[in-house]
Amino acid sequence: MQVIRTIAELRPALEDRREISLVPTMGNLHAGHLSLVRIARERGGTVVASVFVNRLQFAPHEDFAHYPRTLEHDCELLAAGGCDIVFVPTEQEIYPEAQSFTVQAPADLADVLEGQVRPGFFTGVCTVVLKLFNIVRPAAAVFGKKDYQQLLVIRKMVRQLALPIDVLAADIIRDAGGLALSSRNGYLNDSQRAEAAQLHAALRALAEKVRSGRTDWPRLEAQAVEFLSARGWQPDYVAIRGRAGLEAPIPGAALVALGAARLGATRLIDNVEV
Ligand code: PAF
Repeated sequence: MQVIRTIAELRPALEDRREISLVPTMGNLHAGHLSLVRIARERGGTVVASVFVNRLQFAPHEDFAHYPRTLEHDCELLAAGGCDIVFVPTEQEIYPEAQSFTVQAPADLADVLEGQVRPGFFTGVCTVVLKLFNIVRPAAAVFGKKDYQQLLVIRKMVRQLALPIDVLAADIIRDAGGLALSSRNGYLNDSQRAEAAQLHAALRALAEKVRSGRTDWPRLEAQAVEFLSARGWQPDYVAIRGRAGLEAPIPGAALVALGAARLGATRLIDNVEV
């Protein structure tokens, strides 16, 4: 596996490659990321992963400075997972000047749920992802369903900007207790780790009620919030939405239950398709 740090080195390295699949990451990789690499691998062609902690998607009070950076281990995992090239740009390489030109995601999709709690988050994500797409020029890119809203935002960006890229979605990988794998799980202490799977439990229970035919969505959402609050979480939201574009639910539509909540100082997100 080649480790490449600059755009100038990456471009010629990719010139003669067939069918590139990109797996964009912020590093601190785990089995969830490796499942994205596996999906990319299965397409054949060249697998490129990027490792870049994107300052633009962090608010000033968030964990950019503390975000775990474990490049050596990440490279070992990527090499073992069959990645061909890992692109590890510096901040100067991606943002050589203040990034005043940004990608504004549509409000109906990006200013709700995550975007409401983290204003500017999807602008930061879309801007760096579009930039990575332009640098790597992949035929496909793989994103995890754990970041469900991010996946929908990127799909819409690709569709509306006519980018010639297939966006592939990878299912959530969970630990034995049901906790969705996430780099931020590393912030949890032992007792929080034991509790953390309850976010999934709450969403699963909610999804089950919806599956059984309940349509009193606001009440079901409030019950899940109460369940988590009573256990010591600080929920940001629990919401039932349409899977197509996070639209308000209607009976019979394909739905997803999404939630985000803080456990101590750690903010976790998860979702369950109904
Ligand atoms: O999902 C992530 O890790 C990040 O949001 C992404 C897509 C790599 C952009 O920085």
